[in-house]
Amino acid sequence: MEKREQLYEGKAKKVFATDDPALCIVSYKDDATAFNGAKKGTIAGKGVVNNKMSNLVMQYLEKNGVPTHFVEELSDRDTVVRKVQIVPLEVIIRNISAGHFASNYGVEEGIVFDEPTIEFSLKSDHLDDPLLNEYHAVALKLATREEIETIKTLAFKVNDLLKAFMLKLGVTLVDFKIEFGRTPDGKIILADEISPDTCRFWDVKTGEKLDKDRFRRDMGGVEDAYQEIMRRLTEE
Ligand code: TMP
Ligand code: ASP
Repeated sequence: MEKREQLYEGKAKKVFATDDPALCIVSYKDDATAFNGAKKGTIAGKGVVNNKMSNLVMQYLEKNGVPTHFVEELSDRDTVVRKVQIVPLEVIIRNISAGHFASNYGVEEGIVFDEPTIEFSLKSDHLDDPLLNEYHAVALKLATREEIETIKTLAFKVNDLLKAFMLKLGVTLVDFKIEFGRTPDGKIILADEISPDTCRFWDVKTGEKLDKDRFRRDMGGVEDAYQEIMRRLTEE
């Protein structure tokens, strides 16, 4: 399968058409942004790590009953996925307080919740991804009530599965953001990526951050953190 014209360029990926109208190719870049594009940089090798991780995780989720866009890995950075219409919602699940949860509600990071939380924000850099609830999402016609119920069920299922998957690698899943797409026949499937860009990962033993927070917070060791995740994912 070959890349045809570029359909879209996002902050971390490019999307290309293929000869099959039902499929496209995503190509992962090393470009990194934070704060809705206000901070820009490069994380060498990130695209390779994110491509590999997303693909391994999507295949694992698929095997466990979560429908995803994954079709076939083509190379280090390129993957064939099903073409979907992205539901313009960022779906965020949290198991432990961190990031905006800690800053918005004035609590420290690291509080383990009795049960996971879910929140939605509108995918819009220029509005700063504002938080919204399910009623707002329906009012804005971003998704139907039924689609939102499906999205919630799948998101919590992804959380359970991904938590267990990461724990085997010695990693605590703190929180993550996922996105869903609509297939031409109206089915909701998991799309976008699952990677250290879109999740918070803390080493189980040391608590060390192994994700994009090292870039967001200028902590150093950014490339090393991505490579450490890659090492744990690919070592038998
Ligand atoms: P937050 O604490 O900044 O709201 O982030 C929650 C999770 O969502 C965290 O794992 C990082 C991820 N995330 C994205 O993938 N994209 C974004 O634009 C933001 C703000 C967060
Ligand atoms: N998606 C955010 C941005 O575009 C980055 C982040 O905080 O993950 O800048």
